Amino acid sequence: MAKGFYVSKLAAVFGILFCIAAVSTVIALAIVYAQEKANNNDLLNPSETTTTSGISSSSSSTTTPSDGPWHKYRLPKTLKPYHYDVRLRPVLQLNAQRLYAFHGISEVFFTCNEATSLVIIHSNKLNFTTTPTLRDSAGKPLSVSKVDIVLVTQYLVLHAVNPLEVGKNYSVYTEFDGELADDLAGFYRSEYVEDGETKRIATTQMAATDARKAFPCFDEPAMKATFNITIIHKRDYVALSNMNPIRHNNIIVDRDIWTETVFAKTVKMSTYLVAFVVSQFSSVGDPANSTNRAVRIWGRKKAIEDENQGEYALSITKPILDYFEEYYNTTYPLPKSDQVALPDFSAGAMENWGLITYRETALLFDPAVSSIGNKERVATVVAHELAHQWFGNLVTIRWWNDMWLNEGFASYVEYLGADKAEPSWNIKDLIVLNDVYRVMAVDALVSSHPLTSKEEEVNTPDEINQLFDAISYSKGASVIRMLSSFLSEEVFVKGLGTYLKTFEYDNTVYSDLWTHLQAAVDATSQSLDLPQPVANIMDTWVLQMGFPVVTIDTTTGLVTQKHFLLDSDSTVTRPSEFSYTWIVPMSYSKNASLGNYWLQTSTATVNEFQIHTNEWLLANINVTGYYRVNYDDGNWNKLIAQLEADHTNIPVINRAQIIDDAFNLARAKVVNTRRALDTTRYLWKDAEYMPWQAALSSLNFFKQMFDRSEVYGPMGKYMKQQVRPLFEYFKNMTGNFTTRPESLTDHIHPNLRSAVYCTAVAHGGEAEWNFLWEKFVESDIAQESDKRRAALACSRETWILNRLLEYSLNTSKIRRQDAVSTINSVCSNVIGQSLGWDFVRAKWKTIVNELGGSTFSFRNILHQVTLRFSTDFDLQQLEQFKFDNQESGFGTAAQSLEQAIEKTKANIRWVNENKEMVLNWFKDAIKSENI
Ligand SMILES: *[C@@H]1O[C@H](CO)[C@@H](O)[C@H](O)[C@H]1NC(C)=O
Ligand SMILES: *[C@@H]1O[C@H](CO)[C@@H](O)[C@H](O)[C@H]1NC(C)=O
Ligand SMILES: *[C@@H]1O[C@H](CO)[C@@H](O)[C@H](O)[C@H]1NC(C)=O
Ligand SMILES: *[C@@H]1O[C@H](CO)[C@@H](O)[C@H](O)[C@H]1NC(C)=O
Ligand SMILES: *[C@@H]1O[C@H](CO)[C@@H](O)[C@H](O)[C@H]1NC(C)=O
Ligand SMILES: [Zn+2]
Repeated sequence: MAKGFYVSKLAAVFGILFCIAAVSTVIALAIVYAQEKANNNDLLNPSETTTTSGISSSSSSTTTPSDGPWHKYRLPKTLKPYHYDVRLRPVLQLNAQRLYAFHGISEVFFTCNEATSLVIIHSNKLNFTTTPTLRDSAGKPLSVSKVDIVLVTQYLVLHAVNPLEVGKNYSVYTEFDGELADDLAGFYRSEYVEDGETKRIATTQMAATDARKAFPCFDEPAMKATFNITIIHKRDYVALSNMNPIRHNNIIVDRDIWTETVFAKTVKMSTYLVAFVVSQFSSVGDPANSTNRAVRIWGRKKAIEDENQGEYALSITKPILDYFEEYYNTTYPLPKSDQVALPDFSAGAMENWGLITYRETALLFDPAVSSIGNKERVATVVAHELAHQWFGNLVTIRWWNDMWLNEGFASYVEYLGADKAEPSWNIKDLIVLNDVYRVMAVDALVSSHPLTSKEEEVNTPDEINQLFDAISYSKGASVIRMLSSFLSEEVFVKGLGTYLKTFEYDNTVYSDLWTHLQAAVDATSQSLDLPQPVANIMDTWVLQMGFPVVTIDTTTGLVTQKHFLLDSDSTVTRPSEFSYTWIVPMSYSKNASLGNYWLQTSTATVNEFQIHTNEWLLANINVTGYYRVNYDDGNWNKLIAQLEADHTNIPVINRAQIIDDAFNLARAKVVNTRRALDTTRYLWKDAEYMPWQAALSSLNFFKQMFDRSEVYGPMGKYMKQQVRPLFEYFKNMTGNFTTRPESLTDHIHPNLRSAVYCTAVAHGGEAEWNFLWEKFVESDIAQESDKRRAALACSRETWILNRLLEYSLNTSKIRRQDAVSTINSVCSNVIGQSLGWDFVRAKWKTIVNELGGSTFSFRNILHQVTLRFSTDFDLQQLEQFKFDNQESGFGTAAQSLEQAIEKTKANIRWVNENKEMVLNWFKDAIKSENI
């Protein structure tokens, strides 16, 4: 059973509630948790071009694109690379120009597919120190009339005097310098302090389009090639890359002895998965050896050697790799797996083949200090990245428009992998809260978009980076889980296996997976009774945005589906070839027996959906389907009565579903808000995490709308009344919170730490704040440091909060990767909300420049600052903000601005219509429950 896991979270919630008698903290904790989950999905860093000035000017001429193939963002199909020799020397000391630089020599080998005299290769911010040369297959230089660097499309262009011939091989040889900036993109520099000494590392983040910033390359995922990588570094550093080193040589550079580490030739792979790290890190795990697959975890020496923070990740990696080998029916394709924790990292982690990079909080874990939530994060992120080693790395999407398949798939199977590592957690169930419901919140807006995009609509780095959103990750995961569920896992895994075998070391489009799953369906002896081919069913889910609400009238058996919109007054302008109907796999429970039905039209009459007076019907068992469910009033009443009589008759995931569906249907005005609130009345008896979390996140919306009004008092009292019996129950069960969960130690327990820090800062003054700030600065454990940083935003002093906002943009105070989450923490504080909004408005241009290009979370920055927006005045301000900044633009945050405007409009109407009723409901509920 999963109790150990769930109980600890509940105990944390209740402990806080009663320790400090502040109901708002329960909800605050839920928000912190939700944010932690949100970060979890930031798995890939789509750093785009920044304006950081590199080592400028070169011997080559510079032209802007006018006309010609270099004007297009996509490479022409004339040339196809097959091998790279790359030799790089990062220098981790300032040079004479007071910059950190790297020096490179590279040769890319390619075949000519169509006659051309143009060689177009990606290159960004590289300064060529000699003129790039074109060579024939014997290595003989060929005449070139002109070499251009095209800034806008990031190309190096060589104009050959004689056209290249079809079928022949050529190469381009280059020598170049680049800046090793701290911009978290391409080949970059990161720093940390150890024993009073500043240490530097050189590391990479190539995805999506920054390999071109490390060496000239055909920087598209379908341009797979092999790579011979050599890194030259100081002798007291270690160099890592995708493959194992095959030799180390001493060489003299600038009258100094350096080490040259030569890596084995890689398998055929995409440029965005290339990686190398030069550091003074330590590792735990098996060293490379010829018989065993080496698995190692790397990080700061102190974290790895003194604090053993790598042990947990190491202990789960092997079981997860073993599990995926079996699941994919394919052995792990590389001789080793290194995983590295970096002090500066834009996203959560990056699945570079054989050399996965993480931000520290996603890989390192200290059992004495970190919480169970931190542990859960490590397990799921590690599983996610390991899943990509096959799905994504071995078989790769042809172009970024299909990125949702890559990320959606990994976001689904990360739960399967983590479940193998921690079978007692019941972690698979949590996908419903963490992905399905999380993404339904944005997919229910008219500003949503379909999973798929057309290849020709995704060209520029910005367009590529826009795709790394919740729809790709969480909706992708949700529909793939639905697919696996209606096919059965056995058939799904069969099709997946042949897909991987067929396309290994190659590229695909998403429909290739459907083809292989269809073949598995056709071959199975199971009777699946699919109403249509897999592709047709899935088209309705991936080609149109949104999802349906399925309404069942149990008196007549009439079932209807309708596009679910959170704001019932909004108008859908995006056309859909399926007119917003879906092929819905319905599962249901009636009289304790299970059934299935395929809803293929907008309405149907299904006899099995009719019920007798003393029965109820429950649809979408375990929420395997990506849709919401509504019923006739009679059935709703019976379900709520069942919850109050004996909630265990309804599966735990569906108890969460009833609550979450009811609240969302109420926001969309499909059911009465009273009905939604009624689903929480039974909760005082429920000890499970999922229904409580569903209720807390639903009520979180009430908190945002009402925490500055008279509704908030009665709401707090009601929450307290519902929680109290459980608190007593857990208190007894855990011996006054001394025996479970996990090791409750002497002082502040890790699972309670965030809340305790927050409370201390909220009730304290400047001295307490300064104390925590010092603790934050000196913190050596990233997860602990994150908790301290979040707690700094709990202050009730506006001037302190303003100071923290200022600090968030000062990289010598707060790391760039943490800027957005710091601003978000301030905004989640009711006092900080308006300060955060003022700050973001005033500094918008700076924020776009400083964070827009290099931090993944930037896209969400407008989400948190506008969460409480619910008045006409708020809306006016938001529209003014949009108008005022048309020119500097919104970068990857453009979509979140539209979502914020749409949500504000819906909030205004909702508050007007519901405030009175909600106030009265809470008042009645307190009286009537009599606790
Ligand atoms: C690449 O490295 C391999 C050793 O891993 C070596 O055999 C091969 O010759 C190298 N290829 C080139 C083109 O340098
Ligand atoms: C629903 O989920 C629970 C918990 O994961 C599981 O035990 C149960 O078998 C599932 N029910 C169905 C019908 O799949
Ligand atoms: C407290 O827990 C013990 C066992 O842990 C159990 O026997 C007892 O009934 C519980 N008491 C209450 C009031 O729940
Ligand atoms: C918990 O504390 C109460 C008093 O606060 C005490 O009566 C009870 O025995 C304690 N229970 C355990 C298991 O320590
Ligand atoms: C950023 O912080 C550093 C160190 O605390 C300080 O010296 C510097 O003045 C700050 N910069 C700005 C622009 O406030
Ligand atoms: Zn991923």
